[in-house]
Amino acid sequence: PCAALQVPCTLAPGEVRQFVFLIGAGADAAEARALIAAHGHVAAALEARAAVHAMWDGLLDAVQVRTPDDSFDTLMNRWLLYQTVSCRLWTRGGYYQPGGAYGFRDQLQDVLSLLLVRPDLVREHLLRAASRQFVEGDVQHWWHEPSGNGLRSLCSDDLLWLPYVAFEYVRATGDAGVFDERVPFLVAPLLAAGQHEAYGLPARAEEDGTLFEHCVRAVERGTTAGAHGLPLFGAGDWNDGMNRVGEAGRGESTWLGFFLHGVLTQMAAVCDARADGTRAARFRADALRLESPLELAWDGEWYRRGYYDDGSPLGSAQNDECRIDSISQSWAVLSGAVPLRRAERAMDAVRSSLVARRAGLVLLLDPPFDTSAQEPGYIKGYPPGVRENGGQYTHAAAWVVMALARLGSGDEVAELFHMLNPINHTGTPAAVTHYKAEPYVVAGDVYGRAPHEGRAGWSWYTGSAAWLYRTGVGSMLGLRRQGATFTVDPCIPSSWPACEITWRTGDAVYRITVSNPDRVCRGVRSAKLDGVAVNAAAIPLGGPPGVHLVDVVLGAVPGAVMGTRGR
Ligand code: GLC
Repeated sequence: PCAALQVPCTLAPGEVRQFVFLIGAGADAAEARALIAAHGHVAAALEARAAVHAMWDGLLDAVQVRTPDDSFDTLMNRWLLYQTVSCRLWTRGGYYQPGGAYGFRDQLQDVLSLLLVRPDLVREHLLRAASRQFVEGDVQHWWHEPSGNGLRSLCSDDLLWLPYVAFEYVRATGDAGVFDERVPFLVAPLLAAGQHEAYGLPARAEEDGTLFEHCVRAVERGTTAGAHGLPLFGAGDWNDGMNRVGEAGRGESTWLGFFLHGVLTQMAAVCDARADGTRAARFRADALRLESPLELAWDGEWYRRGYYDDGSPLGSAQNDECRIDSISQSWAVLSGAVPLRRAERAMDAVRSSLVARRAGLVLLLDPPFDTSAQEPGYIKGYPPGVRENGGQYTHAAAWVVMALARLGSGDEVAELFHMLNPINHTGTPAAVTHYKAEPYVVAGDVYGRAPHEGRAGWSWYTGSAAWLYRTGVGSMLGLRRQGATFTVDPCIPSSWPACEITWRTGDAVYRITVSNPDRVCRGVRSAKLDGVAVNAAAIPLGGPPGVHLVDVVLGAVPGAVMGTRGR
């Protein structure tokens, strides 16, 4: 729908008049009239607007940062969260994707950006996502509310994001009780042999289960293994466009192996906490079983992306196209599943093959699919350098920055974040004309090849906003909550003399000052809470209401209190 509203009005000199344009809907004329009576005057409109502003201020100002990089601050203070909450979580639409559906893995990842700010929204969405799981453990790839119509698919990673996010939520909030919330399952016909997906309206099963049981079912269903011992690729892993790599049910995914390894390890810890030793041992054994296949996915200079149904490699030096894919390298680091020296070497390959400094891009894979005999799926239908097909897929680029932060490379972390920041692609009129998207929201991709190299696509509706936010707060500035305590463990450029974070949580405000006199990238020398020495890896929350001062000094001092590098 589209409308243009106008009101002719003649103003006397100095006169001020206010108009209210009211757009709404009611079930019938009587309800519409009641709404007009309630809202159709200036005072009510101003009040409503003030309430909207107050709501957004409460959410967006809860964490404020100040660093030497003002483009970083502008993006981190309000914009990335605004993009995530308004567009991804609540509207679920943008210029490039007006659908309005929930994507199973999409909003689960998005809400991780709200752990410090609105953990209640994370909890709510966890339970909503759990309610889209079938009794067999698989989930709807996407669904529409309120009907619940959606797609059952053979996508291999969707279901695993449920335990992943549940674990992160409980680790951050300490709210282990969420695992005992009961949520119904769905029932629908199973996919027939050879059928990859089915759209429909599943029924609510009579059976329900706790969130923990939902997570267990997801992990059990999601733990598969092919000929190389890696999990099956299915009709796509995180990369939706690689939907034919494993369509016959034999292709395998290295990235999924890293992800699954992490999820199994996390779920084993959850089981320990619930005194479920049998399951804990089984999940740990499954994780252990993955380690050697993951090691063997080493291609010589980086990790392969996986294997096609016929056993031929994907993302290998043996390939002519897609020789290297960033997500196998970043998750090698993030999962901790393989020896660090290997993971570091894998990131060297990302540096030399996927970080395109001249164009200011961090590419997903290279070279793009084009004319080779490989048939990875619909990704090949995109022009080379566009979206997943070897452009900067910003979602995965954020993982690269996170992985570098995990390795402690603060200078590079800031440099790459600066590259991904849309503000730095739109600094001059010429740059704006070239980039062609907003400076204040992240674009899902930036094209990687001539003639459109450096041009943004798919703005607004992208999971990269949430991951970049998490990268900025959690990986760079190092602020992470774990239940009743929080950590400050920054990984910043050595050129930054200081930075600050103000975090409002409940009735307390933490003013965190990080100073960097030795100009290091990471390593906490000392920390104080309201003048008293504390462990920077476990600063207690829950003091008296009001402002608390946290002073963190970085430095390479023997015996320094080092923060943990946990996720
Ligand atoms: C899109 C999808 C997301 C997927 C990603 C990579 O953003 O919504 O679910 O993981 O592309 O293909």
